[in-house]
Amino acid sequence: MGVMKLLFLLLTFSASTAVASPHAPLTSRAEAPNLGYQELYSLQKEFYEKFRYPNNVKEAESINSTVFSEDVQGRVSDTRTFSGRELNTEYIFGLFIPNTNSTSIIGQPLDYEIIQFTANQNIASATTRVQFVFPSFGNKTLPVAIDTWITWNEAREITQYDVTFRWFGFLLDTLVKSLDSDATKAREKAAQAIAGSICDAHESHCKGGNQQYESRDECMEYLTKNTRLGQSFELGMDTLMCRSVHEIMIKFRPDVHCSHVGKDGGGMCDDKYSYVEKVEEDFFRNSPWIPTVF
Ligand SMILES: *[C@@H]1O[C@H](CO)[C@@H](O)[C@H](O)[C@H]1NC(C)=O
Ligand SMILES: *[C@@H]1O[C@H](CO)[C@@H](O)[C@H](O)[C@H]1NC(C)=O
Ligand SMILES: *[C@@H]1O[C@H](CO)[C@@H](O)[C@H](O)[C@H]1NC(C)=O
Repeated sequence: MGVMKLLFLLLTFSASTAVASPHAPLTSRAEAPNLGYQELYSLQKEFYEKFRYPNNVKEAESINSTVFSEDVQGRVSDTRTFSGRELNTEYIFGLFIPNTNSTSIIGQPLDYEIIQFTANQNIASATTRVQFVFPSFGNKTLPVAIDTWITWNEAREITQYDVTFRWFGFLLDTLVKSLDSDATKAREKAAQAIAGSICDAHESHCKGGNQQYESRDECMEYLTKNTRLGQSFELGMDTLMCRSVHEIMIKFRPDVHCSHVGKDGGGMCDDKYSYVEKVEEDFFRNSPWIPTVF
């Protein structure tokens, strides 16, 4: 326990200057509530119940899901950070809904099983194995291991989440390779299909001031010639994979999301983040990630 905790402290805080210790006062936040193990386990399950399709449709329709606090902060490995209730309702619940108009790497979550879990105070760490069906890959069904750290507030709203899709590169490779036995051809097919889908969504929803490309042809030309498909860790970078994730969001709020599929990536899909910045990022403000009561 002592060694693990020390290791965790080192990993979490050594590189950070703004948060000197896990017990440092947070920016004007109340003390984290002590919810207890049983309740945290129930909250974890409640989250996945709402995350699974079709329950996520109802949650997405609420626009501001009360699963999240108003000031919720989220981070998803291999993409970016997401702040606020409305944006998180879109990315966590709105993203994983079937859309026959899109060709995308996104699937729909079905059955889930929490296979690793521990919790203390208002923090839970879990691994959940979720069965996803992938409509753009012939309805292939694959399990996905999702590692989560989550904090809740007194109102039982999620105030922070830090999510890692475990073996995500392996998953993506498995999906893409299912398109063609030749790996290079498989990536080419994926790139063409994903670019076409992004450009269709742009044609349908990004009008007037939200328009990013002059025409569908210009969109295809740009995305197939200037934009790489992307590796598994590049869903927050200047790639087709990144724009593919954000394409699904366009229909919710074109004014917010059209720029993310545009040429400069609208602050979501560009190459500005370095590896070191990613690792040393000091993002979370709402609650400590290490219990303050034992
Ligand atoms: C969702 O919350 C945002 C931020 O508080 C607010 O501006 C917006 O009007 C809300 N939308 C709905 C439909 O409640
Ligand atoms: C799919 O595209 C059609 C035609 O552009 C449109 O009417 C429909 O609303 C779209 N569906 C979704 C789920 O975006
Ligand atoms: C995948 O499943 C959906 C819903 O059951 C169905 O509408 C669609 O035709 C299926 N697609 C393929 C490629 O089998």
